[in-house]
Amino acid sequence: ALLAGALLVWLWRGGARPAGAQRRRELDAPVEGRELPLIFIGGVPRSGTTLMRAMLDAHPDVRCGQETRVVPRILQMRQHWMRSQKESVRLEQAGVSKAVLDNAIAAFCLEVIVRHGDTAPRLCNKDPLVLKMGTYVLELFPNAKFLFMVRDGRATVHSIITRKVTITGFDLTSYRQCLTKWNHAVELMYQQCKSMGADKCLVVRYEALVLRPRETLRRVLAFLQLPWDDAVLHHERYINQPNGVALSNVERSSDQVVRPVNLDALDKWVGQIPADVRADMAELAPMLSVLGYDPWANPPRYEATADAAVTERRPP
Ligand code: A3P
Repeated sequence: ALLAGALLVWLWRGGARPAGAQRRRELDAPVEGRELPLIFIGGVPRSGTTLMRAMLDAHPDVRCGQETRVVPRILQMRQHWMRSQKESVRLEQAGVSKAVLDNAIAAFCLEVIVRHGDTAPRLCNKDPLVLKMGTYVLELFPNAKFLFMVRDGRATVHSIITRKVTITGFDLTSYRQCLTKWNHAVELMYQQCKSMGADKCLVVRYEALVLRPRETLRRVLAFLQLPWDDAVLHHERYINQPNGVALSNVERSSDQVVRPVNLDALDKWVGQIPADVRADMAELAPMLSVLGYDPWANPPRYEATADAAVTERRPP
């Protein structure tokens, strides 16, 4: 009876408990799903990110879906905690180690990405600002790949201002201010893309995507290790179809992306930017030149810059 009693107590206490270090290792082990080959599409909003994701959504093996909005927010929240030395110490002291937090954030992101749409062999997320934290996302999901949508900043800013797209920090009354903000955001994303390396992050130009969709998508699919499928060239046929391109009624790009690929938005900005801003373009937005857009040309010859070398342009 004594032996049986001792056995019961032992079982009640959890049997043979792993030693401290082993228990820590178990707790720190990555949560299931972190090994998935997720696809993240990022860029400054109004750079063709929705078009890119709609084209991938048309691929039978991929599901991106609408912007989740909460994925970038949890990443930003974590960034705030980490920036505060005091908060970092408090978390560490509370047992909320880096491994615990990483697992929790990865689990949150996965739940949202996996469950907000249909299932598919390759899941994808298009919350454009996630790329600002790309290197951290790659830590969470080491097999992920990133597409960085780049567009002439003048066109992006013209789109933001004329369509009144609210983005934190952008003053919709000023081309000058918005170009500075565009420059800052695109520079940050460019750095992130560069740190991730060419096998993890591919720069895709909006201009190349609309001027040479077949050629550009071939590169994109090869980079993502996906088989070619003609469906990607006709995303408009799959709008709101089962396993197709699910659109939100309230996203700002939905009414543009229902159309087939077109060149309408390519140079709408020409003649719309105030002369004093145009005169300072190279200093206001040095990233234009870095990304291969002539800051003095109104507009640049996009046909020429959409050539293979530029489509493929990767951070050096
Ligand atoms: P404009 O606002 O200049 O028209 P994002 O989705 O990243 O916010 O980018 C929006 C831009 O992508 C819009 O630019 C929009 O016209 C363009 N776009 C969306 N669907 C498109 C399509 N089918 N063909 C060409 N451009 C498209």
